[in-house]
Amino acid sequence: QASKTGGVLTPTKDDFQKVYNDVAELLENNDYDDGSYGPVVVRLGWHASGTYDKDTKTGGSNGATMRFAPESEHGANAGLKTARDLLEGIKKKHPWISYSDLWTLAAVAAIQEMGGPKIPWRPGRKDGDVSACTPDGRLPDATKEQKHLRAIFYRMGFNDQEIVALSGAHALGRCHTDRSGFDGPWTFSPTMLTNDYYKLLLEEKWAWKKWNGPKQFEDVSTKSLMMLPTDMALVKDKEFRKHVERYAKDNDLFFREFADAFGRLLELGVPFEKEEKFVFKSTTD
Ligand code: HEM
Repeated sequence: QASKTGGVLTPTKDDFQKVYNDVAELLENNDYDDGSYGPVVVRLGWHASGTYDKDTKTGGSNGATMRFAPESEHGANAGLKTARDLLEGIKKKHPWISYSDLWTLAAVAAIQEMGGPKIPWRPGRKDGDVSACTPDGRLPDATKEQKHLRAIFYRMGFNDQEIVALSGAHALGRCHTDRSGFDGPWTFSPTMLTNDYYKLLLEEKWAWKKWNGPKQFEDVSTKSLMMLPTDMALVKDKEFRKHVERYAKDNDLFFREFADAFGRLLELGVPFEKEEKFVFKSTTD
């Protein structure tokens, strides 16, 4: 229950930690994908936030407008209903939390529960209505390369180093033919956040996959891993590659810079009233 202060309902850090704990409990599920809903929950938090446009100050996680068509129907959001439906049970149990706070908090929980760094998080997002839905095309298109990545992420206010740090989330999860059309995981441990994505980008040999699906790469030695054209752009482009090399060598550095960029991604465009951030206890602490 949220605590009452001065007659106003003010949820405390403990109230949010309870939400965290309930999300953590839901994530592991052996019947789903690689045994965890964590990756798709991270993708929900990212797609809710990555619509931000710094010039018009529209989009971003505030509003949780992906609840509504047309945004829920945008091609980039295919498959995210799974994550939204999963979190519906948490919203029922803790009706005081906004969807927009819930989705971003759940993404933080997923990162931490999959062995990633602590992501300081603060509440304050308010749910909007359908009129705040963003136009299609604000999220990256995986068939493209460095020029497109820069256009999309610079629009959110990120730089080259942050683009590479955020992309390390592809250590997690997989592509689904019935969602994006692409197929397969990026790493051998898709439910653990590590710097393996960068190591594999540099150390494996990658070749175009021969199939009828969209153009993607596969590792030559096992043919069980994949890279998108946008992933390969990080080693083709000299500026991006510098950071791939930094993170491949140093997992702690990756965790620090990922935590910083991901924390800010989840806050883009949110008019917070409070500065204080919460660092949630992980279930393994
Ligand atoms: C999955 C594209 C950046 C997190 C995917 C998928 C695509 C994609 C095509 C597969 C979706 C599916 O078929 O299920 C891209 C592109 C990016 C990008 C083009 C540009 C750099 C990011 C960022 C994050 C992220 C910044 C988070 C910080 C994820 C996760 C999955 C995923 C966790 C796995 C989802 C699952 O297993 O269901 N991405 N992504 N991606 N993406 Fe990205």
